[in-house]
Order: sequence, then structure tokens, then C-alpha cells
Amino acid sequence: MIKDQIDLKRFNTLIEINSYINSDYSDVKSLLTQILESASKLTGGDASSLLLVDRDAETLYFEIALGPKGSEVKKFSVKMGEGIAGWVAKNNRSLIVNDVEDDPRFSSEISKKIGYATTSILAVPMRIKDQCVGVIEVINKESGRSFTDEDLEWLEIFSTQAGLAFQNAKKYQQMNDELFKLKDQVKSATTYHELIYKSTVIEEKLEIVKKIASSSSPILITGDSGTGKELFAEQIHRFSDRADKAFIRINCAAIPENLIESELFGHVKGAFTDAVNDHTGRFSLADTGTIFLDEIGELPISMQAKLLRVIQHGTFERVGSNISEKVDVRIIAATNRKLNEEVDASRFREDLYYRLNVLPLEIPPLKRRRDDILPLANFFLKKFNIKNNKNINGFSSSSVEAMLSYSWPGNVRELENSVERAVIITTSDYIRPQDLLLPDYNSSSEDLYIDSTLKDAVNLFKKEFIQKILIEHSGNQTEASDSLGIQRTYLSRLIKDLDIKR
Ligand SMILES: Nc1ncnc2c1ncn2[C@@H]1O[C@H](COP(=O)(O)OP(=O)(O)O)[C@@H](O)[C@H]1O
Ligand SMILES: [Mg+2]
Repeated sequence: MIKDQIDLKRFNTLIEINSYINSDYSDVKSLLTQILESASKLTGGDASSLLLVDRDAETLYFEIALGPKGSEVKKFSVKMGEGIAGWVAKNNRSLIVNDVEDDPRFSSEISKKIGYATTSILAVPMRIKDQCVGVIEVINKESGRSFTDEDLEWLEIFSTQAGLAFQNAKKYQQMNDELFKLKDQVKSATTYHELIYKSTVIEEKLEIVKKIASSSSPILITGDSGTGKELFAEQIHRFSDRADKAFIRINCAAIPENLIESELFGHVKGAFTDAVNDHTGRFSLADTGTIFLDEIGELPISMQAKLLRVIQHGTFERVGSNISEKVDVRIIAATNRKLNEEVDASRFREDLYYRLNVLPLEIPPLKRRRDDILPLANFFLKKFNIKNNKNINGFSSSSVEAMLSYSWPGNVRELENSVERAVIITTSDYIRPQDLLLPDYNSSSEDLYIDSTLKDAVNLFKKEFIQKILIEHSGNQTEASDSLGIQRTYLSRLIKDLDIKR
């Protein structure tokens, strides 16, 4: 009678677990914990653990450890074939050991270290398609009694359930990763930039790009800010035989130092306070493709060692996990810092610098390739006409001159911003020098009023002046007319007559 009751309890627990397995694939850890708790309770054990097998490292890690010393146990790992769990994993067979002292397979090392006396162990393999992927252990049968064959049979049934849950979760995780990767790929595929150039300098750089693209060695792109380093990284990827694989970008300067490791390598749920779910890192997403590490000079020194390891061995661990993962990723790094100086100042690891600098590519500043200025300016004009729903025809000859003689310390990015602003603020059909707001360009009245009649020059002056005052007063006409010393109604008429855009 009592036996029947116990079995009924076990049976119900099993049904309960079964329904969980089919309800939430994403939270496998709490499901496995639940399976383990139930297994431990129903077999009358004092503690229990789930160990996962890492085939590459020939090691078992404690994924879950419950009982009085659970959190301490989790710090340990076991070699394949070592101790009871190691034996079970190696032989893919269950084991009852009711007196560990009499069993030569038992290793007392962990028990001693954590101060927990182990007397009896029940251990069964957790399998996916007959292969042992983990071991479930229940330790110390209550009141000093012995584990029975029946206990073992039940634990095997629970282990089958755990194996199923684990397999489902793995598949779910794989699909989720795949989906994430595809989304990212679609996103970056559509955001590849068009590289505009006319200079022979850039033509030569592109020849180099084509040569180095097919190698899988790291590439270090250097050059001032705004020269187009990211666009060159895109070109390298697109000329490589990884072109149809992922191109994953990460800006090392844009991510807070405490999150960068998790962004690069991912984390497991619970690794830190905010880690409520497993997170796939950029390196995993970039597997078989390319990763672009922008602003590599900003990478914290603590991360530099981990990056070096990925470059040398292709391996890393997620934050909070001790399972190594392997990736095949082409690394392209970029920086506007002089990395050799960073090395001298001990802010950048020398060994990493040499590994990255195998294939250096330097992008010259815009002032060293003036032939690119006008094609770029026209390209940006077209882009911002469309974006702002404008129809500006081009650049006046004096603004062409201004652009060609300016030094562009902010390079292509500055040119792009300058054209965007000009498109927005200009009141003319052609962009004029003063629309570009170049800091070292002196817009003299000569340039402005060249070839004008007095009337046109006066009107142009009025227009510019009123516009400036309006901008200063955020378009408020009452305030602007006060400041100009004219009636508000007169101001409205001028705005209309002079075709001043608000
Ligand atoms: N050759 C180019 N053709 C078209 N756009 C460019 C070119 N070079 C740079 N840009 C644009 O200038 C901006 C800065 O480029 P980016 O690659 O981010 O520079 P860097 O990484 O060197 O600071 C981006 O908006 C980019 O699209
Ligand atoms: Mg950049």
C-alpha cells in the first residue's frame, strides 16, 4: 500500500515535469533545477547535482548543484573518467554506490574540500540520442539508508526527461541564435555603404583591399577619424570569400567597460545581476564571417588578453560559463589612435598589437586626396536632397573653391555633415560658401555679392540678415521684429517678398 502511494507520487511528479518540458523552452535551467529537486526528493537524497560534459575539454562541469553545499560544489569540475560522475559519463552507465569508502572509483577530493561527508551516491547518465551529455547524481540517502534499484530506475526516468528538456532547449537556443544572426545579417547587408572616390590614392588602397581580403589574417585599419575606415572594413568583407556570411560590427568605444565582455563573448543567465537570459555574443554571431572591432584602441586592457586568445586559438568563454566555445572569425580592427604609442604607454598589449598589425591598411585624410571632395560632396547633396525633400541643384563655383581649399580636419564625416547642414539652411538653389559654415573660410562680402546689382545685393543682405535674426529667436516673428526695430506686419511682408524660408 505504502509502495503504491509512493509510486503514485513519483508518477504525478513525472507528469507535472512533462507538462513543463513542453511549455517553456527558453528557461531550461529552472526546468532542470525542478527536475533535479523532484528527483532528489523522490529518491530520498540529501543533495543532488547535474553535471554537463564538455567533450573538447574532456571535462564535466557542475551546471546545477543543490543541497547544503551546492554553491561551493559549483566551483569544481571533474575530468572524464574521474570519480563516480566521471565514470558514469565515460561508460555511459548508471551506478549505485552505497558505501563510497569501499568503491575505488570514488574520489573524496571535492567532499573533503567542501567539508561534506559523502556516504552513498546514485548516478545516471543524461543522454541525447544515446550519447551521454551529462550526469545526474543524488547523494546521501536519508537516515543513513541505502539507495535501492527502484530509486535508480526512477532516477533514470527523470534523467530521460531532463535529457529531453535539455535537447529542446539547445535546439531552441540554436534556432534563436540563427534567427538573431540572420536578422543582423539582413540589417548589415542593407546598410553597406557605397564607397565614393576618384583619387588614385583610394584606387590603390582598394587594390590592396582586394589582395588582402581573401586571407583570414587580422587586418588593422588606421587613419584619422571620419576617413571612412568602416567603409573599408565593409569592402574587405565583401571582397572576401566570407562575403555571404555575417559582417558583425562592434564599436569598442561605445560600450561601457563592464558590458564589453558580454557584448563580445556573450553571457549565461545569472552571470551577473542583469543577466536574466542567456546572451549570444558578437563573436558567436560572426562565426564563419567577419567581425569589425571599431575603435580597438579603446578596448580595456583586461579584454585585450581575451581578444588575443580568440585570435590565436579561436576560443573563448561566455561570461559566467567555463565551457570553451570555438569560432572561426575574421577580425578587422580599426583605430584613429597611434597604437604603437599606446603600446609604449602600456595602454595596449604589445603582443596583441603585433597580431592585429599583420596586414595594416592606412586610410589617408581627405586633404591628401582632394580629387574625392567633389564626387563626395555631390553624393551627399543627392542623399540629403532626398532625405529633406529638397531640390538643390548643386554647388556655386565659390563654394566649390571653398571646399577644395579647406583642410577638412574631420575628413569625410565633416564634409557629409557640412553638406547636410547646407541643404537644410540654404535659401538658394545652389549651395553657397556661407551655407557650408566652414570655420576657416572667411565669407567676405566680395564673394557674396559678386556680379550683383545694388538692388539684388541689398535684397540678399536683407534676406540673410533677417534669416539670421529669425533663427536667433527660434522663428518667433514678434521677437525678431522687435530686435530688427520694425513692425511685425512689415516683417511678415519682407519674409514673403524675399522668399525667406521658415
Ligand atoms: N569614400 C566614402 N564614400 C562615401 N561615404 C563615405 C566615404 N568615406 C566616409 N564616408 C562616410 O563618412 C562617415 C564616416 O565614415 P566612417 O567609416 O565611420 O569613418 P571612420 O570610421 O574612419 O571614423 C560615414 O557616414 C561614411 O558613410
Ligand atoms: Mg568609425
